[in-house]
Amino acid sequence: MEPNKADVRQLFGRRKFLAGAAAVAVAGGLAAKASGAILAAAVAATAAMAEAGQWKMFDRRLGMFVHWGIYSVGEWHEQEQWRRKMSRADYEKLAERFTAEKFSADAFVDVAESSGAEYIVITSKHHDGFCMWDTATTDYKVTNTPAKRDVIKELAEACRRRGMKLGFYYSNPDWHHSNAHNERSTHQIPMEPGDISDMEKYIAYVKTQVTELLTNYGEVVCFFWDIPTNIDLPEMDALVRRLQPGIMVNDRGWGNKATCDYSTPERDYKWDAPGERHTEACDAVGVQSWGYRADEDYHTHGYLTRKIDKFLATGANFLLNVGPKSDGTIPDEARAIMAEVGKWHAKVRDSYRGVTTVPQIRLKIAPGAVLTRRGDSLFVHFPDGLDASGLDMRPLAALPEKATLLNTGKSLKTRVELMPWNAGKFDRETLHVWGIPADDLANECIVIRLDFPAGALDAALSAL
Ligand code: GLC
Repeated sequence: MEPNKADVRQLFGRRKFLAGAAAVAVAGGLAAKASGAILAAAVAATAAMAEAGQWKMFDRRLGMFVHWGIYSVGEWHEQEQWRRKMSRADYEKLAERFTAEKFSADAFVDVAESSGAEYIVITSKHHDGFCMWDTATTDYKVTNTPAKRDVIKELAEACRRRGMKLGFYYSNPDWHHSNAHNERSTHQIPMEPGDISDMEKYIAYVKTQVTELLTNYGEVVCFFWDIPTNIDLPEMDALVRRLQPGIMVNDRGWGNKATCDYSTPERDYKWDAPGERHTEACDAVGVQSWGYRADEDYHTHGYLTRKIDKFLATGANFLLNVGPKSDGTIPDEARAIMAEVGKWHAKVRDSYRGVTTVPQIRLKIAPGAVLTRRGDSLFVHFPDGLDASGLDMRPLAALPEKATLLNTGKSLKTRVELMPWNAGKFDRETLHVWGIPADDLANECIVIRLDFPAGALDAALSAL
C-alpha cells in the first residue's frame, strides 16, 4: 500500500529525523551485534580470496557506476536540491513518488554484463542524504518510499549470485542531516532553520552508516567516498578497511589523499598517465547528469570507447555511469549505449589482459597512440583517433606473423620497408601496417594486434 503524502511528510519530518539521529549510536550497536556472524564470515571470505589472489580490482577493468536516488523522480540532476535551490521540505517530497516498481537487480547486472563491466559501484547515499538501503540511522530511506524495498540488498544478492563484484559510493556532504555542515568542504547548502553545525554528531552518524553498509551486504570490493571533507580523520578509512579487509578505498575521503588506494579523475579532467597509485577514471553515458535526466544528451560511441581505451590501455580502471529512472529501469538510450560499448570491449579486451604498457614508441601519424604488449603480441591503441588508413611504426622494424584489426577481426597488410618520409633522414626500414578502414571506424576506438615470431619483438624493442 502506498503511504499517503501526509504520512510520508511526517515520516521525514524534522522532529522524527532528529530523534532518529539521536538513536544512531544505540541502533548502530545493535546492528553491529546482530550482524557479527555475517561480518566474521565476510572477513574470512575476503581474506581467503585475497590469499588465493582470485580477484584484484585493478586489472584494467571496466565497472558500471550507478547513480540512483530520489533525484531520479525530478528527472533532471542528482544535485537538484542544490542546483535548483530547493528547500529541504520540497525536495523530500520527491520520495513520495519513488516507486522502483519495475526495478530488477538482475536487470542492472544484465546491463553491467552487456557492457563488459566486471563490477558495479552504486550510490548508497548521495549529497541529498537519502539512503538507498534499510538503515537504522534515519527514516529518510528507500524502505519508507512507495518502493518499500532495500534496493542495495537486492543488488548485493544479485551480484553475489551472478559473480558480479560490488562497491559503494557514499557522499560525505549530506543535505538532509541538520548537523552535517562542513565549512571546510565544497557542496554545502545553506543551513535551514533548526540546523546546528555539529560535525562530531555527523561523524558518528557516518560511522554507523558505513558500518551498516560494510557489514550487512556481504563482500564490498571498493568504497567510493565523494567530496573530500578536508578533515583529517584516518579512523574513517581504518573503519572501512577493518570491516572489509582487502577493500579498495578512493581518494575523496576524510583527509585520505596520501593513504588511499586509488585516484578518481572524472569527466573533463586533465588526463595524465596514471601515477604510482591505482586510477579509476569515471564518466557517464549522459553529458549533463549522473542521475537520470529526461532528454539527456548522450555521449557518442566514439567518445566513450576512446576515453575508456585511453585509461585501460595505460593501466587504469574505468567506471561508466548510468542513471536509472525512479521506476527502477535503466533508460533505453543508456542500455543501448552500454551494449554497444560492450560489443566493442569484447572485441578489444584481450589488448588489456595481462599486458604492460610500452612507452618507447611514438607514432608520427598518431602521436596519441598507446601501445601495450603481452609476450610476443603488441597492441596498438588509438584513443585520440586515427587519421589515416595506414601507419609507419617507426622506429619499430620487426615483421609480425599476423596483424589483426581487433574491431573487425580483419587481417591487415604489413611489410618492413623504407618509407618515403624516412628516406634521407631516418633512412631505416620500419614496419608499415596498412589497409585500415579508419573512416568506417571513425566513431570507435581502433585497436590493432600484431603477433610477432617468438623473441622478435623483444629484440626489436631492445634495439630501440
Ligand atoms: C561529483 C559530483 C557528483 C557525482 C560524482 C561522481 O563529485 O558532485 O554529483 O556523484 O562527481 O564521481
